Amino acid sequence: MQDVLPEDWRYWDMVMTTANRLANQYGFERIDLPIIEYTELYARGVGTASDVFVQKEMYTIEEEDGSSITLRPEFTAGFMRAYLQNGMASWPQPVKLFILGPNFRRERPQAGRYRQHSQFNAEILGETDPAADLEVMMLAMNVYRSLGYQGLTFQLNSTGCPVCRPGYIEKLKAYLAEHSDKLAPVDQERLRRNALRVLDSKEPGMDALLAGAPHIADNLCADCADHFAELRGLLEALNQPYSVNFRLVRGLDYYVKTVFEVWAQGIGAQAAVCGGGRYDGLSEAIGGTAVPGVGFGSGIERIILGMKEQGVVPPAPALPQVMVAHFGGVTKQRAVELAFSLREVGIATRLAFARERRSMKSQMREANRAGIHYVLILGEEEVAKNQVTVRPLLGGEQVTMAADELVAWLLQ
Ligand code: HAM
Repeated sequence: MQDVLPEDWRYWDMVMTTANRLANQYGFERIDLPIIEYTELYARGVGTASDVFVQKEMYTIEEEDGSSITLRPEFTAGFMRAYLQNGMASWPQPVKLFILGPNFRRERPQAGRYRQHSQFNAEILGETDPAADLEVMMLAMNVYRSLGYQGLTFQLNSTGCPVCRPGYIEKLKAYLAEHSDKLAPVDQERLRRNALRVLDSKEPGMDALLAGAPHIADNLCADCADHFAELRGLLEALNQPYSVNFRLVRGLDYYVKTVFEVWAQGIGAQAAVCGGGRYDGLSEAIGGTAVPGVGFGSGIERIILGMKEQGVVPPAPALPQVMVAHFGGVTKQRAVELAFSLREVGIATRLAFARERRSMKSQMREANRAGIHYVLILGEEEVAKNQVTVRPLLGGEQVTMAADELVAWLLQ
């Protein structure tokens, strides 16, 4: 878990502002969801074969009344719960929503992988059109492009559906069983538990071994094959770079049909900047009516790591260029009044604090550290004559002027 200090907050601000702006431009509306849900939502939604469950990544609390609650490890199950619970099925369909906020997973900490991470998530609920898949993919992609990322590509796969996936898994298992002597123990275990995850293996030798494995794209039912072909056609119509990656299987159980990630140059395949896909069976898995859905989640810390690696520099926040300095007593009262009157007219202003008379040298040091351009000095003489002395810190002459000329002078 990390503290976000001011130097990094600039990056957060830029990412969140860009995400908000583009999400709105694509017609997504912001919502918020609670950080805690009943554990059962994730058992049924995210699934007990998912990484979050199998690797015991959830922060779960057993309540005194016997209920079990969990810090959200992801957003999608919560989105679907909120859709069902708030009667969104009776809103005009589809419902397009987005969110920004923290998620919690007890992962082994490593670069780009934290126990508290924040995600930008966008979801389209109540729509089966492959153009909806395209839209969430393009929203993610265009956020990274707007931020200044280079070398972006989509990794795309179809993960089939309950009609065609079991047949594919049987073929994959048969292939892997033929080569089981070459599988590392961890992959042997995956083969027993969830054969699709073997495709995801980073063990040495697996690239060669999997080169001959069957591809799910060749084993889709007609409905999934049509969906996949249309989505690819749309990506091509928009000239988007994508690779069909038959080894892209994602660690959450709810996916059907489309799964995708965005990879960026220099960040590495392991650190996908986002991941998402379609989850048409999720609603029924958590006890609702059938509601199709598609969306993605993008880790904000990951986006920021990528920005730093790619040399993207966020704009500095608009901090004061003006500081009001004084010598205590009556000059302090006048300084306080001046600082607030400047803020009132929209001039960002820093006020020097001092319980007693404070040396001008100390106030100048503070001004320099704070990147101030002009120090407005109120001494007893200035107060008596209703004047202000302006000391420029970036070069130029010190001037004393009538207090009522100050605002026009500063604005100029
Ligand atoms: P996910 O791939 O588990 O998918 O996470 C989405 C993104 O969140 C990842 O691509 C990564 O950027 C970031 N992320 C995940 N875990 C961590 C971590 N421990 N530290 C830092 N960043 C992390 C989901 O969560 C799905 N709910 C996405 C989705 C939305 N699918 C459909 N709709």
